[in-house]
Amino acid sequence: MYESLTIESLHAIRDEALASLSLLEAVDVDGLEAWRVQYVGRRGLLTLLLREIGSVPIPQRREIGAAGNAVKSILQQSLDGRLSAASGATKPTGGEIDITLSGRHRPLGRLHPTTRMVREITNAFRDMGFQQQDGPEVEWERYNFDLLNIPKDHPSRDLWDSIWLDEIDREGHRRMLLRTHTSPVQARVMEQTNPPVRIVVPGRCARYEATDATHEWHFFQVEGLAVDEGITFTDLKGTLFEFARRIFGAQRRVRFRCDFFPFVEPGVDMSIDCFSCDGQGCSLCSQTGWIEILGAGMVHPQVLRGVGYDPERYTGFAFGMGVERIAILKYGIDDIRNFYSNDLRFLSQF
Ligand code: FA5
Repeated sequence: MYESLTIESLHAIRDEALASLSLLEAVDVDGLEAWRVQYVGRRGLLTLLLREIGSVPIPQRREIGAAGNAVKSILQQSLDGRLSAASGATKPTGGEIDITLSGRHRPLGRLHPTTRMVREITNAFRDMGFQQQDGPEVEWERYNFDLLNIPKDHPSRDLWDSIWLDEIDREGHRRMLLRTHTSPVQARVMEQTNPPVRIVVPGRCARYEATDATHEWHFFQVEGLAVDEGITFTDLKGTLFEFARRIFGAQRRVRFRCDFFPFVEPGVDMSIDCFSCDGQGCSLCSQTGWIEILGAGMVHPQVLRGVGYDPERYTGFAFGMGVERIAILKYGIDDIRNFYSNDLRFLSQF
């Protein structure tokens, strides 16, 4: 069709090529490649035509050569423009897109109520000058019981029916267990530190016990310990009253009663009036009107001696509170088992 190389044949091939390029779809990359091969490829129409330059009479050769280069450059630029437009375009894969549809909702995660409560409690004590510490959830018998003045045959070991691991010592005694309380961290910290000590220790505990509305077999505690010269029981009461005021507000009633823990003397437990019956007595508070949230007392001289402190010089107080019990009271939750049943209807309320 374009047998001889003339200005006219060059313009004709340019017009045909540009017309056929304009018919190709924006994203038709295969079509663009076929077009390139057909017109400007090594055996394309324009390339073959330009090879005829040797047979053009010398007087016209310069003019036709320049026109040929111009056409080649126009076609190449047009192709490049289309190729870059094609690479920027996205091809819908599943038919038409309805841009009026709303996006997919992705629910945001949030903190578990236990984690929130742990943070609230530790923040309250941090404001009063306590440092946060951690301890192991799998504990040696020595820290969980022995160093806390709980001898091997003491009945309080039975109270905390423990979950023992298979670690056996040379005499065949079981020695490791899931810690039954956070109190072992008291001994761990005092062994490593000289007074003054002022710490709070949040962490998970486990006991082999039946569950009900206020008892789980695993739960969280926050331990507290303050040891220094001249610490008295009034420091203990003042600290715990201030804690209760911060967490529950000034209007909630607080009760201290004598209690026994081998690692404190004297020992107390602290309760808050039941939110569910306003202190009148109901099934949640076992008809007492009170829900116990913590045990506390003055650190026993035997415990101080066991970690190398001089009980004639140093005194201190300690406490251990149940995190879920405090959340129950604060948020009006009627069953502790909700915390670990993984039910989103419960969890998403926090
Ligand atoms: C103790 O665990 C002592 N270590 C507390 C302590 C520390 C006393 C320092 C003195 C000095 P108790 O067994 O009472 O004590 O538990 C403390 C708190 O943990 C309880 O008041 C309760 O809030 C919580 N708790 C205990 N058992 C459970 C359970 N099964 N489920 C949920 N919370 C529990």
